[in-house]
Amino acid sequence: MKIKRVKNEFFLLWIAMALFGWSAISCDSTPKGDSVLLKDYGAEPTVINIDAYTMSNSNFRTALWTGVNLQSTLMSIPVGGDVGLEKHPTTDQFLRIEEGTAQVVMGDTETSLTFVKTAGTDFAIFVPAGKWHNIINTGNKPLKLYSIYSPAEHPHGTVHKTQEEAEEAEEAAHQHFFNKNENFMTRELIQLPYATNALEPAISRQTIEFHHGKHLQAYVNNLKNLVQGTEFANADLETIVRESDGAIFNNAGQILNHNLYFMQFSPTGGDKPSGRLAQAINAVWGSFENFQKEFEAAGVGLFGSGWVWLAADRDGKLSITKESNAGNPLTKGLKPILTFDVWEHAYYLDFQNRRADQLKSLWSIVDWKTVESRY
Ligand SMILES: [Fe+2]
Repeated sequence: MKIKRVKNEFFLLWIAMALFGWSAISCDSTPKGDSVLLKDYGAEPTVINIDAYTMSNSNFRTALWTGVNLQSTLMSIPVGGDVGLEKHPTTDQFLRIEEGTAQVVMGDTETSLTFVKTAGTDFAIFVPAGKWHNIINTGNKPLKLYSIYSPAEHPHGTVHKTQEEAEEAEEAAHQHFFNKNENFMTRELIQLPYATNALEPAISRQTIEFHHGKHLQAYVNNLKNLVQGTEFANADLETIVRESDGAIFNNAGQILNHNLYFMQFSPTGGDKPSGRLAQAINAVWGSFENFQKEFEAAGVGLFGSGWVWLAADRDGKLSITKESNAGNPLTKGLKPILTFDVWEHAYYLDFQNRRADQLKSLWSIVDWKTVESRY
């Protein structure tokens, strides 16, 4: 009886196949997915057939998914072309070849690429942060691959049709925001443009003496020792903050952050921004007062030590960012405009644990002319 029943089931299956076609009753458990729509899916829950997407992409680079801490891009490298020799100072990278043949090279400097491997379809490539690397298409058809960065390396929605377009964007992204001859770009202890008691009661003389004279001085001394004999020995602050990591980044970041912080204050400060900056603030937050509220809330909500920033992208669009420890929006491709220091050393002598009160009081000494000049 059992055999007969199985036979019957096969007979029914055969009838169903005849009526509806094989695909409708396929037992294949691999979903075929929707049709390929190449776009940046942003930080949204996404399930796609990455192979189909990678094979459909014919741009040099298409950002496929850009989240807060991770990004995936699709790449198509023409015959004889390459990804481009580069290094990501603080970002590990994973790449997978969906189709093609490539030579992978890596090394500690641009001129000593001692790691050389051949890779092909279905190969994975892991690039450690800080390694120079390149992937050269050595096959006779476009090299199709996808890449995963953590954190994101390119702006959301990035599309580079050709390598030339990618290089132009790269160059623009690495263009300095600040002139290295600006006074706040000094790696020496910056000279304050006001007396140590001039910012009272917002910031007391004692706090300035410790904050500027001891804390900032220590970062200056540390950086001097750390960069000796390194590629950053003679680099300007912005370059170091953009390209370094670890202790060098922490100390250089703290110098740049404090320089921007101390130089944005004046005993005759207060009031409101004007001109382009005021318009840009109103465009995002509706009013200066709303912006102040959000800025203070960001500072209060930052857990532990760090900085709250008003920053601008390359189109001038403003945003508030929170950065922990020595962080600076420069590392996200944003220009720092205004910053409040929320390390306890910035306010503990004057306000003890009342960070919100310190942040509120700082508005009375902000020199908006200086801040506007950064925008
Ligand atoms: Fe500080």
